[in-house]
Amino acid sequence: MSQKTWGGRFEAGTDQRVEEFTESISFDRRLYPYDIKASQAHAAMLAEIGLLTAEEAHQLHQALDAIGDEIRNGQFAFSTAQEDIHTHIEQALIQRLGDLGRKLHTGRSRNDQVVTDLKLWLRDAAAEIDRRLRDVQRAFLSAARRYHDLILPGYTHLQRAQPVLASHYFLAYIEKFQRDRERIQTARRRADALPLGTAALAGTSIPVNRDRVRVLLGFESLARNSLDASSDRDFVLDYVYALTVIAIHLSGWAEEWVIWSTTEFGFLDLPDAFCTGSSIMPQKKNPDVLELTRGRTGRAVGALTQLLVVLKALPLAYNRDLQEDKLALFAAHDSVAASLSLAAPIVEGAQFRREAIESRLEDGFLDATTLMEAMVLHGLPMRSAHEAVGKLVRLCEQRRCRLRDLPPEEFDRLAPGFSAKVYSVLGVKNALAAFRSSGSTAPEEVDRQLNFWEQRLNI
Ligand code: ARG
Repeated sequence: MSQKTWGGRFEAGTDQRVEEFTESISFDRRLYPYDIKASQAHAAMLAEIGLLTAEEAHQLHQALDAIGDEIRNGQFAFSTAQEDIHTHIEQALIQRLGDLGRKLHTGRSRNDQVVTDLKLWLRDAAAEIDRRLRDVQRAFLSAARRYHDLILPGYTHLQRAQPVLASHYFLAYIEKFQRDRERIQTARRRADALPLGTAALAGTSIPVNRDRVRVLLGFESLARNSLDASSDRDFVLDYVYALTVIAIHLSGWAEEWVIWSTTEFGFLDLPDAFCTGSSIMPQKKNPDVLELTRGRTGRAVGALTQLLVVLKALPLAYNRDLQEDKLALFAAHDSVAASLSLAAPIVEGAQFRREAIESRLEDGFLDATTLMEAMVLHGLPMRSAHEAVGKLVRLCEQRRCRLRDLPPEEFDRLAPGFSAKVYSVLGVKNALAAFRSSGSTAPEEVDRQLNFWEQRLNI
């Protein structure tokens, strides 16, 4: 029978099936650098309050470093008998240092330890996601520059609506990813209150100096209430939600580019290195990375749902259910980090087919709304102008022509003298140049946005 940290209370050993059912070492081992860091800070504090000598704290520090090296180098033996990463590291310390190792857990519990480790992990994880989001923003920004003068059809309901500059299109995603970065930052700030020292649930009668540990670990504040702090997983929820929104944004982009790379659309060529072929159809070039980016949204949404259900209806304080938080957290993080790391090079490598796009740009009446607005500026009530342009579009469909192919009489009939100016807003290029409002796709507005992001993303 294996030795347990709680062995004193028990006569019989743990059933093998229970060990396997309750273990978390298979997924929480990645917390080891944070567990070691937190233990080193805890040991230093114990020495400062006189419960360890400085020499003992030093020995613990060194032994913890050595254990960290062993784990990093793959020489550390993990076993479900030790349940989790906290127990593994403590047992390894005891093996190395004997009674000194048995002193480390003074004034703390695994309940405050695990949530401390998780917060430390989340700080690095959030920094990684922020970096990757910034890389994706930079890729979109360089595409916005590369296709500066390209006009795209803009869609609503995936039906041709109004023209937009390709730069405007790329900048739209930069905005979404910026809000994603802010959400990640917010979740990271939620993780900035140190739980260590709240012990199992009620605190400890050991005179621990929590503020000293806070300084050593670089937390902004101390968690105020021990019952709350040892059971708080809101910050995990916030982080996984922020990840889920990223996944949702990526899925929309991926869907769009899957469609745009079809023969039917023919808007863009994806980079070969980021596509795959077919084992039977020699001509195929499939956008699998985009499809999986879209498909893996399921992992993030699933993780968020899983976490919400795990946290629902838990009485205070720690409950073993909380161990399940890490599965959802790591799954969402890993999946979103991987998708982001591929999004940047795909955007960098994608080639828009200018000719194919331009040759069909005059299809679909992209200038109809601008024509209506020109009528309004000419003096017609908006609803009357809307109806009049609707009729002109119908006429064009019958004649199989474009709005700008209509003779002057058709326009003058609706508003006397209108034909003198109408041709200057008809056609996609003219329609695009007519935009005025702030935040619109008007070329000077788009350049303003480009400048803003160029400075902000300091390229
Ligand atoms: N392995 C546990 C978890 O991940 C931490 C330990 C707390 N376990 C306990 N029985 N009090 O949540």
